[in-house]
Amino acid sequence: MSARGQALLAASVLPLLSGCDGVQSVFGGDGVHGEQFNNLFTLFLWVCGIAYALVILFLAAAILRRRRAGPAEHGKGLARTLAAWLGFIVVGLTMLTVASYLTDRDGAAAATGNLRLQIAVTANQWWWDVEYEDPLPANHVRTANEIHLPVGVPAHIKLESNDVIHSFWIPNLAGKQDIIPGRTNDILILPKKVGVYRGQCAEYCGQQHAHMSLDVIVHPRATFDAWRQRQLAPAPAPANPLTLAGYNYVTSRECSVCHNISGTPASGKVAPDLTHLASRRSIAAGTFPMTRGHLYAWVADPQGPKPGNRMPYVGLETRELHAVVAYLETLK
Ligand code: CUA
Repeated sequence: MSARGQALLAASVLPLLSGCDGVQSVFGGDGVHGEQFNNLFTLFLWVCGIAYALVILFLAAAILRRRRAGPAEHGKGLARTLAAWLGFIVVGLTMLTVASYLTDRDGAAAATGNLRLQIAVTANQWWWDVEYEDPLPANHVRTANEIHLPVGVPAHIKLESNDVIHSFWIPNLAGKQDIIPGRTNDILILPKKVGVYRGQCAEYCGQQHAHMSLDVIVHPRATFDAWRQRQLAPAPAPANPLTLAGYNYVTSRECSVCHNISGTPASGKVAPDLTHLASRRSIAAGTFPMTRGHLYAWVADPQGPKPGNRMPYVGLETRELHAVVAYLETLK
């Protein structure tokens, strides 16, 4: 094949394979449950693949035989083949049943430790509210569109929806779990490797379904504890006239009705918590990387980059926009 042909082939095939690698891989081997499901899937694929190949082989053999020998020819060969086929079906189905049972049991057993992280995730059109629960209310952490996990520690994630049906899916770590309004579902995650992964909503939920993703960061234990400790701190006070102007705007105008910033009068609960906004990797539920340029674009007109989302156009003047973005950037 010519170099141009090879380049064309690569360009057409690579996008199809891009879902199988890196931060969002359907062959999830970075979490215990993802790996278990993948093994089960592989077994199903082999058993069903062999059954399919046998059916096609028998069909081809029957056609050839009929051509050669004419219509009415049955014998011991047919009886033996049918018996073997029956045996294969019984053994195959038994294997799949037992393997499903064992996977289910091992999945539950893997996550029984005394140490267990309790996280409540609430799906909204189109963002994720993430709360780390703690018996002590003062240790309760709220963030958005980002889940931090310690490696090797089972996380029990409670899933609820505020509006329509969504589905929670971090393919590298575990399978999918639907989120149904009015009921609480849950999922167990046990990360095996430190790393950064991408989760996304896996159930069509409206115009911006494709922009409902979340960053998942798996830390070593000590780094996770440090992250959680930092999240407990209130927002820093504004340190210069520009950030003070931004603070005044955010806490006294439309922003504070929907958003919470701990340690300030902004205490809205219906939009992402902004207390540590600038420490996150992305904005607008994984839609854009966290950069100054994207913050400007987002605050100036949220309906431009992500049409249909619940954040209204506020109509800031240029100096107000500069001040608001400068203040948001201090929310580390
Ligand atoms: Cu939420 Cu799709």
